[in-house]
Amino acid sequence: MPNNAKLTIGDKSYDFPIVKSTVGNDGIDISKLRAETSYITLDDGFANTGSCKSKITYIDGEKGKLWYRGIPIEVLAENSTFTETAYLIIYGELPTRKQMSAFSQKVLRNAGLHEAMMHFFDGSFPFSAHPMSILSSLLNSLGCYYPHMATNRREQDLEYFDDAAAMLLSKVRTIAAMAYRMKNGLPLIYPKRDLGYSQNFLHMMFTEPYHEYYPHDDITKALDLIFILHADHEQNCSTSTVRMVASSGANLFASVSAGVCALWGPLHGGANQRVLQMLQEIHDSGDDGSKFIEMAKSGKARMMGFGHRVYKTYDPRAVILRKAAERVLKIVKLKDPLMDIAMRLEERARNDSYFIERNLYPNVDFYSGIILKAIGMPIDMFTVIFAIGRMPGWIAHWKEVAEQEKGKISRPRQIYVGYDKRDYVKMRHREGEFPSDYEADESRTYTHDSGLIEK
Ligand code: ACO
Repeated sequence: MPNNAKLTIGDKSYDFPIVKSTVGNDGIDISKLRAETSYITLDDGFANTGSCKSKITYIDGEKGKLWYRGIPIEVLAENSTFTETAYLIIYGELPTRKQMSAFSQKVLRNAGLHEAMMHFFDGSFPFSAHPMSILSSLLNSLGCYYPHMATNRREQDLEYFDDAAAMLLSKVRTIAAMAYRMKNGLPLIYPKRDLGYSQNFLHMMFTEPYHEYYPHDDITKALDLIFILHADHEQNCSTSTVRMVASSGANLFASVSAGVCALWGPLHGGANQRVLQMLQEIHDSGDDGSKFIEMAKSGKARMMGFGHRVYKTYDPRAVILRKAAERVLKIVKLKDPLMDIAMRLEERARNDSYFIERNLYPNVDFYSGIILKAIGMPIDMFTVIFAIGRMPGWIAHWKEVAEQEKGKISRPRQIYVGYDKRDYVKMRHREGEFPSDYEADESRTYTHDSGLIEK
């Protein structure tokens, strides 16, 4: 294996060191590129750019592999719980029994919200507010209630990291449930001490004044599974956002709040909501999926829940979720026509050259919505569920950035393609401020306000 990569520009050659990975793509370290060549790189959407070294998650997009801290996702889906997986992702190793018990207790103790925060749900937000908007605002506002954990001084924020991490893991779920209750005119309730993570969330979502909600164990497991499968996914859009905000020295609450905003978009976490809307529209129009497939191929529609920047084969999370969706539909004894449409779309797409040539397969969002719908989750909570699940990943990535000894602020460059001085003078010509034969003179400068050209 070579240790250097050679770059030739014109008649000059430059050497750049190769950075080895444990497994997967090695990288070319171009940190001296600009200084040595005066060129920068351009990589639209960062599809070829490694922004950091990380020990958290490994993805092999060609083979459909996903590991958290070296453990395959299939193993965790089968044997772990969300809280244990969260510990693994945040602290790097599976917990001992003692560590697990202490961690669970800490998460549990943090489930309630500061009473003053409960007033946000008392008319401060309009009923029509989207829960993602509420979530990002209130996660950031945690820093107002616990300012000693959100000082933007690295040493202190790291000193309180364990508390802040447990608080976020726990409160994200409470804030999400309260946002739902407010929107639906339900009285605000408190988490219970004797319920597990996902059970507690379902209790806070669905308990009504005269009806205590106790979810079926398999429903709780299905939700826990969704959380596990979303817990981290290396340098995706929201995680990169969290890392970028963290790189400026911002505290954990502010950084994950930015992650929620990035996740909201329909090309990222917002896709699960759009998948269900798409399936519903196909169903309502009486299409069996064929017309929609043709529209997607001609660019008139986008097949939501399909395609992925990294996976060029079946997303391993989608494999697990498809099976889970079938299981959940059986438990709730629901024959959902949307599941049939989803399976038909998948079947068609997997035999269609458009999708095959572009490596477009179902991603994590394709079947998760069907499970969430079956367990009674309203559609505008789908992306919120994703955010709850992704919290351990965001927290772990913040920690990784914060603990770097010589961490740099993330600050990419650009290739400027806007107006230059000549264009400015041309514009002024159009406005009749200069004689039409006026030639731009590189040695002159101008001031924007007056348009004066000065020596
Ligand atoms: N439906 C139809 N065509 C698609 C789809 C799709 N879902 N996804 C990609 N394509 C086509 C593109 O039109 C393009 O075709 P072309 O080469 O003829 O121009 C080709 O496949 C490559 O697509 P890009 O958009 O360049 O792929 P990119 O890696 O930038 O985008 C993305 C990945 C955003 C996930 C895209 O596949 C997509 O929009 N999917 C639907 C939204 C979605 O499900 N998002 C969730 C992603 S997973 C997650 O965030 C949890």
